[in-house]
Amino acid sequence: MTSISKAPGKIILFGEHFVVHGNRAILGAIDKYATVTSEKTNTNNILISSSLGQASIEKDENVSNIEKKFRPFFYIAKEIISKNNFENGISIKIESDIPIGAGLGSSSACCVAAAASVSNLFNNTNEKEVLELSIQAEKTIFPNSSGADCTVSVHGGIIEYQKEKGFLKIETENEFNFLIIDSEQVHATDKVVEQVKKFKDENSDIFSELCSEEERLVTKALESMKSNDLETMGKCMAQNQIYLEQIGVSNDILLSITKEIEQITFGAKITGAGGGGCIIALTQKNNDLSEFMNTTKYQTHNVSIQKTGMQVFNR
Ligand code: MEV
Repeated sequence: MTSISKAPGKIILFGEHFVVHGNRAILGAIDKYATVTSEKTNTNNILISSSLGQASIEKDENVSNIEKKFRPFFYIAKEIISKNNFENGISIKIESDIPIGAGLGSSSACCVAAAASVSNLFNNTNEKEVLELSIQAEKTIFPNSSGADCTVSVHGGIIEYQKEKGFLKIETENEFNFLIIDSEQVHATDKVVEQVKKFKDENSDIFSELCSEEERLVTKALESMKSNDLETMGKCMAQNQIYLEQIGVSNDILLSITKEIEQITFGAKITGAGGGGCIIALTQKNNDLSEFMNTTKYQTHNVSIQKTGMQVFNR
């Protein structure tokens, strides 16, 4: 049997970084996907292949000895092999159309699709278990992950997420459209999260005040989303961008893209870790942004929120 799983990338509408420190965040799944194909093999090895390379690793190998780019997938296969007392190996092929290191949840979507695909080889498609496994897998390379990105990739749609409380689906009338502008500066999420932790340690009062401000902003943003008030929602995004600048995850390029795009959209901000990656701007479906898109030197993508999260198929 060949098991295939598809999991979406994400944008963070509000609350990245603050969510690592206990705040709420709002995320949406987007129409860009990671696809993982897996099979049981007759060997004793775990075979992993992706655009980043290939590896064939003895399944008894220690997870911490595995190269970072293969580690989460090795972890997933090893966990499932051991749970099911399986005597042979597994092959895992990862494909993705989500840009890597751009803040669009590429790594989480790959972990979710791998956890779902390999679990399904053993007839388990329980969403809660797939989510738990994908978060643990992501933590093998990014121990401080809040779990938000994997959660929206499993469940799809728009969610409110808090580390301690888990997720809540947000039902809205509007599907929301965004323009993503990729600064093409690759970032490493774990490094930017470390940098924010340092900022927090050195400026505890300021950070705590910003967390409270961000909480109030999330409440206001949720109201604007539920009442389909795009003007207010865009203003909340612009305010969130200011808080992200204050904790030091923006830079001159991100700021200049934000300033330019917010003049022709409802509002714009970094999405994800920052320090590079993408800016998202709230648009209307029939907004004509072709002039900007044709003249900017950056790659742009129109995305809408995807209601469906991870999916699993057999072939
Ligand atoms: C990364 O997409 C979002 C961060 O908030 C980290 C996390 O939530 O784990 C920066």
